[in-house]
Amino acid sequence: MYKIISEGLTQIYVPVSGAFGSRVDGGDRKPPVFYNPHMRLNRGLMVLFMRALGGGVFGDVLAGSGAKGLRVAVEAGCSVSLNDANSDAVDLIRRNVGLNGLEGGGAVVTNLDGNCFMLENTGRFDFIDIDPFGSPVPFIDAALLASKKKGFLGVTATDTAALCGVYPGTCFRRYLARPLRGALCHEVGLRILAGYVVRMGAKYDLGVVPVLSHYTRHYMRLYLRVSRGVNSANRSLQDMGFLYYCSKCSVYSYLREEFPSKTLCRCGGRLRAAGPLWLGSLHDHRILSDMLSMAEAGDEKKLLATLLDELSQPFFYDVHRVASELGVSSPKIDIVLERLRNQGFAASRTHFTPVGVKTDAPLEDVKKTLV
Ligand SMILES: C[S@@+](CC[C@H](N)C(=O)[O-])C[C@H]1O[C@@H](n2cnc3c(N)ncnc32)[C@H](O)[C@@H]1O
Ligand SMILES: [Zn+2]
Repeated sequence: MYKIISEGLTQIYVPVSGAFGSRVDGGDRKPPVFYNPHMRLNRGLMVLFMRALGGGVFGDVLAGSGAKGLRVAVEAGCSVSLNDANSDAVDLIRRNVGLNGLEGGGAVVTNLDGNCFMLENTGRFDFIDIDPFGSPVPFIDAALLASKKKGFLGVTATDTAALCGVYPGTCFRRYLARPLRGALCHEVGLRILAGYVVRMGAKYDLGVVPVLSHYTRHYMRLYLRVSRGVNSANRSLQDMGFLYYCSKCSVYSYLREEFPSKTLCRCGGRLRAAGPLWLGSLHDHRILSDMLSMAEAGDEKKLLATLLDELSQPFFYDVHRVASELGVSSPKIDIVLERLRNQGFAASRTHFTPVGVKTDAPLEDVKKTLV
């Protein structure tokens, strides 16, 4: 029913898909413990992140098979706590702890509800990781409280349909923010998620700042620095605000403000306001450079290099869309970047889409590089 696989330097028992029967023969088709091979990149980056921090106490709150926490223990030398509410998962985590020779210390295993686990361990973790099915919202408050005075939080969200505006009502209910449909939906979703954690931190006088953020496949992922104090909380809130989009002239703009204040664009078009969301930088360049210098896997290197290069402004232009609105075929993105830089503008690719360009150039100047 279970097989051993290797991820990085770690051995992990994982369920064999299809080995647990099918609905047809009356069995339960889903394995009793969750393991997703597509999340290897997520776990690989986690290892690099903890190595860049130089180790620490790591809490894997929703551990599943334990894959992430175990990798962090084996490959980054962290002392880890692995928790899951599902007792089958906890049995498998214990087998995996044994498989990697971690039973004599270095790995503590518990079978608690995630929030109980964190509230029993307030102020204990250098890094606390939230990797739920769907939205992380039910775990954010306790995670903030489980972090050390200066600690870090990892947050995964797979409810991208809500964050990206397919279900705006759900987004508002969960994240207290208005999303934006269209080319920018993923960046806005990621920034709404970051902004939500910032606001939840502020009410406990905690400053929260994203240090690494990405959207990959079906999930959003944030690493955030937490620091205690009213001043830190206030500083974080200063990077909150609203992003505006004009559907008439396609221009984006943003304002650091508590409530949306604009309704009309300069062109006379009606503005759509998205937020509140995080408008500051999504990355800490020192942490990213350290991670990149240690990365070996191709997909980890590629993503980190793109993130390092990415400008911090909170929107990009989808060059193919702009070109098709102009009725021209788009030049290669590298050529667009070069043309913008030659005119003195800052310009970079973005990891959100291979056809996106982040730049401080006005849209009119971006258009000129396409014709
Ligand atoms: C997406 S999986 C975790 C995957 C794992 N982090 C990895 O990298 O393979 C989510 C896990 O959360 C557990 N879970 C769901 N609700 C929970 C709760 N309220 N408290 C603790 N664990 C919970 C599930 O049993 C499942 O194992
Ligand atoms: Zn306009």
